[in-house]
Amino acid sequence: RGTPALQVVEWSDVVGWWPRLGPSSEKYSRGVVGVATGSRTYPGAAVLSVAGALAGPTGLVRYAGGARSDVVRRHPSVIATDRVAGAGRVQAWVCGSGLGTGEQAAAELRAVLAAPVPVVLDADALTLLVDGSLADRLRDRDAPIVVTPHDREFTRLCGEEPGADRVAAVLRLAAWMNATVLLKGDRTVIGTPDGRAYVNPTGSPALATGGTGDVLAGLLGSLLAAGLAPEQAAATAAYLHGLAGRQAARGGPVTAPDVAAALRPVIAPLLD
Ligand code: APR
Ligand code: MG
Repeated sequence: RGTPALQVVEWSDVVGWWPRLGPSSEKYSRGVVGVATGSRTYPGAAVLSVAGALAGPTGLVRYAGGARSDVVRRHPSVIATDRVAGAGRVQAWVCGSGLGTGEQAAAELRAVLAAPVPVVLDADALTLLVDGSLADRLRDRDAPIVVTPHDREFTRLCGEEPGADRVAAVLRLAAWMNATVLLKGDRTVIGTPDGRAYVNPTGSPALATGGTGDVLAGLLGSLLAAGLAPEQAAATAAYLHGLAGRQAARGGPVTAPDVAAALRPVIAPLLD
């Protein structure tokens, strides 16, 4: 077996993948993304992942979870419900950060996985996969799965640390789970189950602050709901999120809401 193809993500790729609006665009035709994150204990994770989703190309964001009042107060355009099952149709789900790991969180994760649409699994959803020994039991799910671990989450999912060859590590996990894997960090790596890999050249150490991963997951979900292939959505989200981190760092110390806000000027040139 030869060395797997490794593609460095470029701005021109993002331009090519980003969905264009046309005169006949309509909010449902742009796609609807569902966000099942946060909880009464962790409302901030919900607010941040929804902020990421709202920066993306979809026409509507639905929220399902325990932080609905906080989400709607911060983001009045969002349609919010308590439960995934009652949320209505979406073209992709984002599930994980701040969800908790108890019985209700597990039930919400099951509801997300039962939907016949692509899903992004992050943070607590990854913990629930490990706790429920589910990581390799999603192989036969028809719709794509994208997992977005940082190094510790990767280690728990995979049973071993990413090590020095992060591309090889990502491709091993992607093949084992039959999922697209986005391994976060300096130079985020993305791998597909069929052995293609991407490395993201953008980013900033300023992104190493709580909640920026939630923003990334929301944006990624919006891109999936808009119809991008999983690896295109993952590469686009990582690239733009990295640019937003750099942009935010120019204004001083960075917090996750700054990264979400900086996505707008970063994405603006794509909307011409
Ligand atoms: N260079 C570039 N990008 C980085 C760097 C770096 N040195 N460090 C982190 N990042 C980026 C990652 O690529 C990712 O996009 O910042 C983001 C961080 O995402 P997460 O690791 O998921 O962090 P987040 O969940 O937002 O923070 C809360 O704190 O207490 C922990 O476990 C808790 O995971 C939770 C985290
Ligand atoms: Mg995280």
